[in-house]
Amino acid sequence: MGRTFFVGGNWKMNGSKKEIKELVGAWKDADTDKNTEVVIGCPAIYLDLLSNELRSDWKVAAENVYKKKSGAYTGETSVDMAKDCGIEWAILGHSERRDIFGETDEEIAEKCAFALENGLKIIPCIGEHLEERENGTTMDVCAKQLEAMAAKIKDWTNVVVAYEPVWAIGTGKVATPQQAQDTHKDIRKWLEDNVSADVAASVRILYGGSVNPGNCAELAKCPDIDGFLVGGASLKPDFTTIINANK
Ligand code: G3P
Repeated sequence: MGRTFFVGGNWKMNGSKKEIKELVGAWKDADTDKNTEVVIGCPAIYLDLLSNELRSDWKVAAENVYKKKSGAYTGETSVDMAKDCGIEWAILGHSERRDIFGETDEEIAEKCAFALENGLKIIPCIGEHLEERENGTTMDVCAKQLEAMAAKIKDWTNVVVAYEPVWAIGTGKVATPQQAQDTHKDIRKWLEDNVSADVAASVRILYGGSVNPGNCAELAKCPDIDGFLVGGASLKPDFTTIINANK
């Protein structure tokens, strides 16, 4: 069975109640590809609002959740709290969480396993910095990040991997379709060799990094690109063009 195309938005720390209502209103009746799964990640404080306002065929993701049930973890959001707000997904291990907030491969892997075991679907993010691409270690970096996850994740059914080269995030410097396809293929091969052939064949691998309405169609044609995780362009009404990239 083919892999269902998947387009995620990641609003990061952007938006206000007013802006969310306007954006969601603009998307309400948009004619989007019914064969594409759509998930929007928004700041924790707006999860409830977005989940109430968003069209019901699209789902909402937390941009981070913690690895404990509840307790003295000031500032954190639990998996149960997200679920209580109707949230089905969490983005985990985004490079901004890694680089700005110091999350390690190990911590991210723990969060992935905890979220999955407690009923959330997850979008773990991996990817290399510019220097690592330039010195030819892209796949070593991705493999190390994947290895930590694979040691903890027991069931990959509810995992969608996002490959986001850090140098392409928010820079307008999108990976070429060939660069993205090559790395996606390597990631799939890694999954085949280190997890299983079934997981490699069924897990969706998203590309993230300066995807926009103008470059999405070419990227979507690549055989190992199963969709996108979109930052800046998911804050605009014409995000629907990206959702329709595989149409
Ligand atoms: O998670 C999506 C992201 O990091 C890519 O951001 O703004 O380059 O689309 P952007």
